[in-house]
Amino acid sequence: VHWNEIALEIAREVEREVMPLFGTPKAGETIGTNVSGDVTEYVDKVAEDVVLGRLQPLGVNVVSEERGFVDNGSDYTVIVDPIDGSYNFTAGIPVFALSFAVFRDKKPVYGAIYEFVPGNFYEAIPGEGAFMNGKPIKVRKPERGKEALSFYTRGRCTGLIEKVKRVRVLGAIAVELAYLAKGALDGVLDVRNYVRTTDIAAGALIAREAGALITDERGRELKLRLDATSKTNIVAVNDRYLLDLILEEL
Ligand code: IPD
Ligand code: CA
Ligand code: CA
Repeated sequence: VHWNEIALEIAREVEREVMPLFGTPKAGETIGTNVSGDVTEYVDKVAEDVVLGRLQPLGVNVVSEERGFVDNGSDYTVIVDPIDGSYNFTAGIPVFALSFAVFRDKKPVYGAIYEFVPGNFYEAIPGEGAFMNGKPIKVRKPERGKEALSFYTRGRCTGLIEKVKRVRVLGAIAVELAYLAKGALDGVLDVRNYVRTTDIAAGALIAREAGALITDERGRELKLRLDATSKTNIVAVNDRYLLDLILEEL
């Protein structure tokens, strides 16, 4: 299976269906609650219908953010968030993306993030690296005192804000992990015990393949559960010293 082709086709089709709704009240209409108890907005449903419709003929298992686990007894499981950053989408803030990760048994085999507004397509294959629009990407080497961090802590370890130069909280962790991977951010942390595998599976793989360290809130290798409801913490950084700096504050 050519996962890259499938992911890009799905991304483009979601883009065609959802972009006319960008920044409109219609996009944000509540149409129910999802498997983790969050509201499903109209745009989430439109996007998810496209994704599930496309994946269905492949017979793979799917874990998607709104509908949850669809078990087809396959070795392959696709973990997908059709729109990460729904709030941004509806509010007209152009930071949101499709997140698409493929596992064979419990092992990741492919990850993709499509950031709709700039039209950037990020990918990773374990052991082969990370790419943006087909070109290899790498995390950058942070400069001490010049770090830029994305930061979800719900009031924990706010001392960290004083220790880094820039804090950017963009509201779509898939995008933020892609930015870490391409060297636009130095770290991404969410320690609210709030993010789900659907939010971060692709981003963690892409950032790791670009050279990032991806850990839990204690600095241990992050292990993801392949379901739609488990919540987790993530600390993702481009350098060991930054990990130590963060862990000290947590
Ligand atoms: C949200 C985004 C956001 C994160 C939230 C997620 P959604 O996803 O990833 O960055 O802080 O935890 O729920 O709901 O827009 O797909
Ligand atoms: Ca999400
Ligand atoms: Ca979503």
